[in-house]
Amino acid sequence: MTKYNFTDVPERIKTNAIKWQKVKQDSEIIPLWIADMDFHVFPAMTEALEEFAKISVFGYDAPKDSLYQAIQDWERTQHQVAVNKEDIVLIEGVVPAISVAIKAFTDKGDAVLINTPVYPPFARSVTLAERLLVTNSLVDNDGHFEIDFDQLEKDLVDNAVKLYIFCSPHNPGGRVWTREEMVKVAELCRKHGVYLVSDEIHQDLALFGNKHHSLLAVSLDYQDFALVLASATKTFNLAGTKNSFALIPNPKLRKAFMDAQLANNQHEVSTLGFLATETALRYGKDWLDELKTVLETNINLLTETLIAQTDIKVMKPEGTYLVWLDFSEYGIDHNELGRILQEDVKLILNDGVTFGKEGEYHFRLNVATPISLLEKALKRLVKAFPKR
Ligand SMILES: Cc1ncc(COP(=O)(O)O)c(C=O)c1O
Repeated sequence: MTKYNFTDVPERIKTNAIKWQKVKQDSEIIPLWIADMDFHVFPAMTEALEEFAKISVFGYDAPKDSLYQAIQDWERTQHQVAVNKEDIVLIEGVVPAISVAIKAFTDKGDAVLINTPVYPPFARSVTLAERLLVTNSLVDNDGHFEIDFDQLEKDLVDNAVKLYIFCSPHNPGGRVWTREEMVKVAELCRKHGVYLVSDEIHQDLALFGNKHHSLLAVSLDYQDFALVLASATKTFNLAGTKNSFALIPNPKLRKAFMDAQLANNQHEVSTLGFLATETALRYGKDWLDELKTVLETNINLLTETLIAQTDIKVMKPEGTYLVWLDFSEYGIDHNELGRILQEDVKLILNDGVTFGKEGEYHFRLNVATPISLLEKALKRLVKAFPKR
């Protein structure tokens, strides 16, 4: 018996959802791209926001101690990360936090490394800050992304990399990195004096029994050169409330981060976001558990259908609700694939090339949508890309 509603299709056109823009022009379109979910939040969230709205004042509010406590409790119980209140820096988003970290820990022209393919704002943030972008390709080992650690060390050393932005769990590959992999990443940074930013926004979405290992849980020693970025927004479908947090136990690193944040005037954060984050972390666990079973069902359906009935290669994710699809077997030009998907199949997916050059012939599909929509999308994909 399910307690929450993951089957109704919410009216997202009414809120002008970016993901649903194209559906306004053509109601046949199924939008399975941007990483938010076509699910309602749990009812207690709506009630908390309604109660807040009843006070009818939306001025400058300070974050409450109870918000910090909720973050500390969540991190301790869910991820075995022990942080003090002062280690937590609130900021409006993980992407803004990445930009702040780039400014705090590097100068113009310094090298910053990312593993590609990866969430597109990583590369954009580095290049727009006029830092040198160094990319280390993940290795697709039979549908499983892996890090080539020898090449990674070479890339760090040869380019005198100052900062490494790591995506854990990984978007778009859905890897939930093992403890051993996290140790290797961190030890290479320690050895070569590289700052490490671990973007753990997908931390709560480890699926199929996989365990997310936060960098700060793996070893507290890493705090001397590393920080973790996370939020409740991805997990609980609150991205529009603009709220996230950086965990920075090292006082020197934290000061550098907060100075850069202040220089950008990014130290004031959405008050509705404060409330949404606290409510999610205090009362959302039950909903999250159910969400994860829904995501696992959707991922299994997609993987089984596409493997049995098409030649699309599916990178089955260990976490997140994002699936990396490889259409290379069809021998169709990448741009033409994009056209077919959008115009003929009427599916909006994320174009793989935006994640890095490795993304040619790839598209990313978001399964966080009611199963009725996913089934419809899969039927169309099977028809357009039959097994040959
Ligand atoms: C790896 C990663 N980092 C950050 C974000 C977005 O963070 P925010 O909305 O807090 O800026 C996303 C959204 O999909 C993501 O996948």
